[in-house]
Amino acid sequence: MEQKPKITVVGSINMDLVTITSQVPKVGETLFGNRFQMNPGGKGANQAVAAARLGAHVQLIGCIGKDDFGQHIMKHLKNEGVDVSNVEPVTDSTATATIIVADGDNSIIVVPAANNYVTADFVESKRDAIATSDILIVQLEIPLEGVQKAVEIAKENGVTVILNPAPIQELPSELIHNVDYLTPNEHEQTLLRQGRNEEELDGKLIVTMGSQGVAIREGGKDIRIPAFKIDVVDTTGAGDSFNGGLALALSKGVPLRDACYYGNAVAAMSTTKLGAQTGMPTAAEVEEFMKSRA
Ligand code: RIB
Repeated sequence: MEQKPKITVVGSINMDLVTITSQVPKVGETLFGNRFQMNPGGKGANQAVAAARLGAHVQLIGCIGKDDFGQHIMKHLKNEGVDVSNVEPVTDSTATATIIVADGDNSIIVVPAANNYVTADFVESKRDAIATSDILIVQLEIPLEGVQKAVEIAKENGVTVILNPAPIQELPSELIHNVDYLTPNEHEQTLLRQGRNEEELDGKLIVTMGSQGVAIREGGKDIRIPAFKIDVVDTTGAGDSFNGGLALALSKGVPLRDACYYGNAVAAMSTTKLGAQTGMPTAAEVEEFMKSRA
C-alpha cells in the first residue's frame, strides 16, 4: 500500500466569527449585516485540514483554550482526520478571528490568545513530531520564536519547509535561509522584498495572486501558473487551501510547477463555499475538477 505523506503544520487555531454584509462599516458607523456564522479557522488549522482532506497524514502542533471554542475545534479537527495529539489546551482563551465578508472579499482581526503559547520551548517539546515529517508548513499567526524553532528542527532533519508569511512581519535572514518555499500574496511579497537582497529569495518565492494565479521563478525565468476561473462566494482560506495542496503535491514528488497548478485547483474549489474550510476539496474532487477543466 502507498505510504501516506506526513505533513506537519505548526500554527494557529482560531474560531472564525464571520459576518456577511453588503457593506463594510466606516469608523463610528453601525450597519445591519446579512448573516452570521461561526467556523473553525486559523491559518494553521486551515492548512492542516486542507492537506488532510487531500489524503495526507497530517499532524497539527498548536494551542487552544480550555473553553467551548477549543472543545468544538478539537472535535472538528479529529473528524477531519487531523492528528491533534500535539495540540495542547492552555489557560488563555482559544484564538478568535472576526471576519467581515463583503462581495466575496474579507477583512480580518485576529486575537491570538492561546496561539501565543506556541513558543520556542513549546515547539522544542514537539521536536520528534517535526523531525520525522516529510513536509513542515508554518505561518505567522503564532510567535515568531515558535516558527523559527520549528524551521530550525526541520532544517536539521532534512524536512522540506513551506513558510506562508501571513500576516507579514519583518523576518530574519536566517529564517528565510532555512526555508525551502515562501508563499506570500502580492502585498506580503512587496514587504518581504523590502531591504532584502534578491538572492536571498531566489528560487523560494511562490507568489499567490488570487484570480491572476501564481508566480514562480524557475531556471532564471518568471513563470505564471494561471488560476482556475470559478464563481467565488468567499475567498477566506483560499491561500491556506493553496498551501495545503502545494504541500501534498510536493510531498508526493510532483514538480514545483505542477504542484502549484494543483494548489490553484484546491484554492479555487475552496472559494465556492462560505467559510475557510467548508469548500476545501478531497483528492477525488480535485481530480474530477482538473479533468473537467483540462
Ligand atoms: O487565512 C484565513 C484565516 O485567517 C481565517 O480562517 C482566520 O482565522 C485568519 O486567521
